[in-house]
Parts: sequence; C-alpha cells; structure tokens
Amino acid sequence: MKIFDYIDKRVPSLEGKTFVVTGANSGIGLEVSRQLLFKGANLVMACRNLEKANKVKDEFLKECPKSHIEILRYDQASFSSIEEFAKTLENRKIDCLILNAGIYHSTNDLVTQDGYPLTIGTNYLGAYYLLEKLRNSLTNGNIKRVVVTYSLVNVFGKTKHYEKYLLYVKRKPNKTYNISKRMNYHLAANLKSEYPSLEVVLTHPGIARTNIIKSDNCSFKWWFKVAGDRFLKTFANSAKKSAICTLFAATLPFSKPLPVVYPRGIFHYIGLPKISSRKVDKIKDEQLALISKKIISN
Ligand SMILES: NC(=O)c1ccc[n+]([C@@H]2O[C@H](COP(=O)([O-])OP(=O)(O)OC[C@H]3O[C@@H](n4cnc5c(N)ncnc54)[C@H](OP(=O)(O)O)[C@@H]3O)[C@@H](O)[C@H]2O)c1
Repeated sequence: MKIFDYIDKRVPSLEGKTFVVTGANSGIGLEVSRQLLFKGANLVMACRNLEKANKVKDEFLKECPKSHIEILRYDQASFSSIEEFAKTLENRKIDCLILNAGIYHSTNDLVTQDGYPLTIGTNYLGAYYLLEKLRNSLTNGNIKRVVVTYSLVNVFGKTKHYEKYLLYVKRKPNKTYNISKRMNYHLAANLKSEYPSLEVVLTHPGIARTNIIKSDNCSFKWWFKVAGDRFLKTFANSAKKSAICTLFAATLPFSKPLPVVYPRGIFHYIGLPKISSRKVDKIKDEQLALISKKIISN
C-alpha cells in the first residue's frame, strides 16, 4: 500500500494549521510529523534531545523544503522543562497538540527529575502537568484539539491504587506501563469533562515497530531487545502505518464526544485505522484527577 496516496485521499489540506507533536524525533511521533508536513501543516517538534530532533528536521526539510518546522525543548520527565515549554506556547494558536511522548518498561528504581517513578511520571504525570500549565489556552480556545496516546494494554492497567503507583517506585515495570496507559485513557476523559468545547481524541497504534523497546529507558536485556525487534519486524505494523491512526485522530472531524482511533486488524494489533468512541468512566476519572492535582500542588 502506498501510504501517502492513502493519506492524501482521506486527510484534508493542513496548510496554515499548526500541530505540536511531543516525542517527534522517533517512532510514531516522527512518522506522524512527516505525514502532517506532507499535508502542508506547520510543525512544532517538542523533544528532549535537540541533536536528534535537528537531524530529523533536516531530513524533513530535504523531503519538504518549504515546510515550517520549529523545535522546542521538552522533557516530559521534568516539571521545570514542562513549565518552560508551556510558557512558550502561551497565546499561540494551536490546531492540535499531540501527546505522543512515552517510554516503556523502565527499571524499577528510575525516577523523573522531580522524584516520581519514571514510567508513570513520564507517560502520565508529565502529560497531566503540561495540560495544567496550558489551562488558559485550553479554556480560551487557543488550543483546539488534544490527542492522547494510550495503548491496547490499558485494559491490564486497572487499579484502585493510583496514589501508590504515582508515588512509589518499586513496582513491576510491565504492570506500571499498563497502568500509565490506563491513566492516559482517564486523562483524555477528564479533559473532555473539564473543557467541553475542547476536542479530545484518544488513539493507540496497536503494536508498532518503533524504538520503544530499543530505547535506553527500556530495561530489557540487549538480546531481548534484538529478539523483540525481530518479532516486531515480522508481526507488528510499521511505525509509518501505525502513525496513520494518530494522523486521523489529529486531523479528521468527529461527531462523538470522546472518539478513539486504533488499528482495525486482528485484535486491533495491526491494520489501517478504525474510528470508534469511548465512554467516560466518571468516578475513576475524577478520582485520578483529584489525586494528580494533590500531587502536583505539593
Ligand atoms: N510501539 C508500540 O507498539 C506502542 C504501542 C502502544 C502505545 N505506544 C505509545 O506510542 C507512543 C510513541 O512511542 P513509540 O512507539 O513511537 O516509541 P519511540 O520510538 O521510543 O518514541 C518515543 C518518543 O517519546 C520521546 N520521549 C520519551 N521520554 C520523553 C521525555 N521524558 N520527554 C520528551 N520526550 C520523551 C522519545 O524521545 P527520545 O528519542 O529522546 O527518547 C521519542 O521521541 C508512546 O506514548 C507509547 O507508549 C506505542
């Protein structure tokens, strides 16, 4: 399948529109950025590693020389970096903020710059903190849409003990990742309840071959990373194909309050995008929001 032909037929021109992508220098973030540029969007790459981001920007400019691309430093595992980033976005018109940055399976004892368990601190708490810091833009309509990236494994991440997982580090890495992605699901639902006129879209990429298990953050042994990557090469979607779910989530019109875009193939692991919607689990959503608010105000 020619991915760009497929996209071209389904996604309207994005000329004059601005998209902010967190984690835009690798995997799904990189590929969705490429697809957005192909449709004429202005791109803000929010990345912690500026060297990597600049290399990717050069690659993009070779492909689409007239593109408007800006790189902003953004570390979702650091409250001070998030604050600085949010200040830079203040008063700017953003058609869509794509919350994509994330890590998988970090070692138990790693923490964020502010001392929270690394996986949940990055995947959920950092994203939550950013949205708190962007409160004005979410209220006054400067940000029109937010896309939240969760995962198929969120179904294994149900818990009644959010506080324990947000605060204490000695947890199983796999379970912690599942919980962080469940939290992303509730994050989206909370956002929709709190800002009814904001467009909020959930997306997951199924299983995608990206750098997520190869990254330094991932605690797998080297041989498991190699074997895992071979497995993903054979059985998973390419990052390019998975990114179409994020692209649709960021650009298509939706009629339901909390749409979700994910692969439509076997067990929703792979395939082209399918569009559905999710219910808002008010009690759980609010419980997580209250705990998160308490944590960040301490
Ligand atoms: N791949 C899958 O099968 C899969 C399945 C379900 C959900 N997802 C989700 O998809 C999203 C994208 O992951 P991917 O698969 O594309 O993995 P990836 O190739 O490893 O990309 C992850 C991106 O997030 C960035 N990132 C990590 N920690 C960050 C931090 N503290 N601050 C700012 N950026 C940070 C990385 O930056 P660096 O390059 O600096 O590390 C990278 O750009 C994640 O939210 C992941 O949970 C992936």
